[in-house]
Amino acid sequence: MADLHSNFLGIHSPNPFWLASAPPTDKEYNVERAFQAGWGGVVWKTLGLDPHVVNVCGPRYSTLRGADRRIIGLNNIELITDRSLETNLEEIARIKQRWPDRAVVVSIMVPCEEEAWRWILPQVEATGADGIELNFGCPHGMSERGMGTAVGQVPEYIEMVTRWCKQYCRLPVIVKLTPNITDIRYPARAAKAGGADAVSLINTISSVMGVDLDQMLMTPHTGNQGSHGGYCGPAVKPIALNMVAEIGRDAPTRGLPISGIGGISTWRDAAEFIALGCGTVQVCTAVMVHGFQIVRDMISGLENYMDEKGFHTLEDFRGMALGSVTDWRYLNLNHVEKAVIDQTSCIKCGRCHLVCEDTSHQAISTNLMGERHFAVREEDCVGCNLCASVCPVENCISLRHLQPGEVDKRTGNVVSDQYANWTTHPNNPMAATA
Ligand SMILES: Cc1cc2nc3c(=O)[nH]c(=O)nc-3n(C[C@H](O)[C@H](O)[C@H](O)COP(=O)(O)O)c2cc1C
Ligand code: SF4
Ligand code: SF4
Repeated sequence: MADLHSNFLGIHSPNPFWLASAPPTDKEYNVERAFQAGWGGVVWKTLGLDPHVVNVCGPRYSTLRGADRRIIGLNNIELITDRSLETNLEEIARIKQRWPDRAVVVSIMVPCEEEAWRWILPQVEATGADGIELNFGCPHGMSERGMGTAVGQVPEYIEMVTRWCKQYCRLPVIVKLTPNITDIRYPARAAKAGGADAVSLINTISSVMGVDLDQMLMTPHTGNQGSHGGYCGPAVKPIALNMVAEIGRDAPTRGLPISGIGGISTWRDAAEFIALGCGTVQVCTAVMVHGFQIVRDMISGLENYMDEKGFHTLEDFRGMALGSVTDWRYLNLNHVEKAVIDQTSCIKCGRCHLVCEDTSHQAISTNLMGERHFAVREEDCVGCNLCASVCPVENCISLRHLQPGEVDKRTGNVVSDQYANWTTHPNNPMAATA
């Protein structure tokens, strides 16, 4: 049986599933029930200085839903904890005492002043918590006060504050990064330069969910005004995976431990983050939508997967897929694929033809001997995958890899077994010459 035990920076947890800093971790009552359900760890809802912040008493959340009403994205305008520091610290200490085998990491956000950090860090340490996470990521509310994203968008600030934390605290320091930045490698490098033990990502993405066209008001709104919020949930997973991979393969941060966050709803999502190098994963939206019990499926699903693959520990596959992420210029231009339609499962809806005809390469015919029939003309197909992406029938359209020696009917060339990329292509004016 697979062992899901995780050792992240010396912080042990029975499984890699941690709850991200957010409403599910904002009080003892919640965390107690989360641990009973089986969560391996929590990052406590972000602590700040007293007097504590005040939230609006109106819609704090709104969702983007798919056609089947499934929640794809969640937007929130909530701030950090709106309870006193003392209350939070007492509860954290009690939780850690009752649950010594679970990871309890404390998220912190205080002003960018050395004194503020020097003041709060020993108090957090005194709770017995296992680590701290620096919230440089909230894109709303707190950023207007010079915290959260306002720090996370300036690598020099990240480095400076991380250094203070390493100086005034003995606990492992995890720097939580904002995705609201052009190139994630710079803040990650800054965190490492400041001495961070790890980074976690992503926090939420700045967003406006919509506009009420009758009232001409952005949605959601408080009274007759709204404010941008932070976007998360399944829709942000691809953005998070890319950023995780970018940090993992960037030379200055390669090997820096990562806690992956963003749209993780199932064991499979979690496994993908681990395969790209994450040591633990954090979950928020999925729990806000489905409740604490989803961790049971996550645990059993990951165990089954690892058993099937013969992985005994998380380390057996952590980072295994990272080497497959590369720059476009290194992709093999001699690799050729063509779409194939499985006629037995095709329901003849015509969507593949529509998209290929209007936006791709006009490679799908609609008629065979007067009958409605959809088939790919290999001589026009570039293997772009658009038809397969829109086909409503699973696996009805697949891409076939042409083997070396076969003729690519589109170019008339024999498919080569030689790897050749853009860096040496004759059409590339910058191509390296032999
Ligand atoms: C309502 C809400 C409140 C949040 N509050 C915090 C917070 O206090 N500190 C923090 O670091 N992140 C906070 N987050 C961000 C989450 O920890 C997480 O980074 C983000 O939601 C992405 O994960 P997900 O896609 O699983 O939701 C909050 C998210 C939500 C939805
Ligand atoms: S989209 Fe799929 S099901 Fe519809 S016609 Fe094309 S192959 Fe058939
Ligand atoms: S793979 Fe692209 S080009 Fe080929 S048939 Fe499908 S949509 Fe058309």
